[in-house]
Amino acid sequence: LLSRRRFLGVAGAAVLAGGTTTVYARRWEPEWLEVRRTQIRTQPSGVAAASIRILHLSDLHASPVVPMGLITEAIARGLAEQPDLVALTGDFVTGRNADWDALREALSVLPVVVPTFACLGNHDGGVWTQRGGRGYTSQRLQQVLAETGIELLHNRSRQITLRGRPVQITGVGDLWAGECQPAIAFFDQQPLPDEALRLVLNHNPDAKDLFNDYPWDLMLCGHTHGGQLRLPLIGTPFAPVADKRFVEGLHPWDGRQIYITRGVGNLHGVRFNCRPEVTLLDVT
Ligand SMILES: [Fe+2]
Repeated sequence: LLSRRRFLGVAGAAVLAGGTTTVYARRWEPEWLEVRRTQIRTQPSGVAAASIRILHLSDLHASPVVPMGLITEAIARGLAEQPDLVALTGDFVTGRNADWDALREALSVLPVVVPTFACLGNHDGGVWTQRGGRGYTSQRLQQVLAETGIELLHNRSRQITLRGRPVQITGVGDLWAGECQPAIAFFDQQPLPDEALRLVLNHNPDAKDLFNDYPWDLMLCGHTHGGQLRLPLIGTPFAPVADKRFVEGLHPWDGRQIYITRGVGNLHGVRFNCRPEVTLLDVT
């Protein structure tokens, strides 16, 4: 039998642990960035191709619960790694009341030094935000991106050359907004040599099944925030995806690869066992 004294001791420890966990999950972890590096091989061996470093940032979620300092720090730490390309995979804001001037200023440093491309997420003003009574469109964000020089790929492809290697970047609209349209995005793609790298910027990894019939090597996603709360034994019950296998990190799929970043910002100001991520991908 548990003595009264022992019970109080155990209960006290539990309350203390709970309190510490809450403080940690609300105050500490959401702003504790991890620079996460991953090597990815996309070409069959035998094809000589230059290595390309991608800085992948997603889910900035500029809002009252995500300080702009976290976003600027993520960008600065990513740029310090001297990427060849920057991919931003949606959810720039949460709601219509973002500090747009501060966001513009934070983002504007990117395209000055490195080609930067973006796709939209469900929070960025498509049909999903309008349907939920949130009542804002993506117009304001599109304007901010245009002013910074970041190229938004909304169901569109672009070809550039990085380190002498042709790179095709295809960006699609968001799945929940009903705007993910690979048929349009891939419509005018050109034939590419073997050493080319074909990227897809797609916010929600659940949309992967729509891409079976199209030519690409590596898909970059966000949306999940890595589950945001990653609980011992339970896992990531809050990850907003149907396919819980694709919550974070690099995964082979259908002969290609998908990378899902945990993202920079969050919703509701909490993270547990799931640090915000500055993603660097070395693609060889
Ligand atoms: Fe998000």
